[in-house]
Amino acid sequence: MLDLLKQRRSIRKYKDKPIEKNKLERLLKSVLLAPSSMNKKPLEFIVIEEKETINKLSSCKTMGTLGLNTAPMAIAIIANTEVSDVWIEDSSIAATILSLQAEALGLGSCWIQVRNRESENGSSENKVKSILNIPDKFGVLALFSIGYKDESKNSYNESDLDCSKIHFNKF
Ligand SMILES: Cc1cc2nc3c(=O)[nH]c(=O)nc-3n(C[C@H](O)[C@H](O)[C@H](O)COP(=O)(O)O)c2cc1C
Repeated sequence: MLDLLKQRRSIRKYKDKPIEKNKLERLLKSVLLAPSSMNKKPLEFIVIEEKETINKLSSCKTMGTLGLNTAPMAIAIIANTEVSDVWIEDSSIAATILSLQAEALGLGSCWIQVRNRESENGSSENKVKSILNIPDKFGVLALFSIGYKDESKNSYNESDLDCSKIHFNKF
């Protein structure tokens, strides 16, 4: 697990190569195993493989969608806000699991924040909802670009760890 965490980096350039069905299945099983507060399971996931839709999603923010248009796949992490008042936490756990499972499968990914972000005409969340036909009661945490990496990034190593952030017993 520690090695996987060191290896995982945000990838913003992908090869023009589709993700195999068995890898997609493992990605989806992983996010469905994410824990949720009170086991309310407010999350849903939209897998986007249509190039045209991925390109439209690239304009959901004024900045921060770099590489999405090169990805063969995006996954939107959304949650029914009427089911849970901590859907943001639940969604973030699934997002983290997704990025680690992608890395474990030899894929790259990047978290593209949607909640609280702006597009050129209105909120990124509304823009994504309109592109993906998401009902109003859902919140959109993030999009993930996923695919085979077309850039190499160094893994983290022990010297990257800021141990001053850790406190024992008191701050
Ligand atoms: C909550 C959150 C939101 C992020 N939003 C974006 C984003 O909108 N666009 C982007 O390119 N990267 C985004 N990232 C990726 C971060 O920029 C990245 O994780 C950070 O710079 C550390 O780099 P690393 O992922 O390679 O370790 C986000 C990451 C997190 C955890």
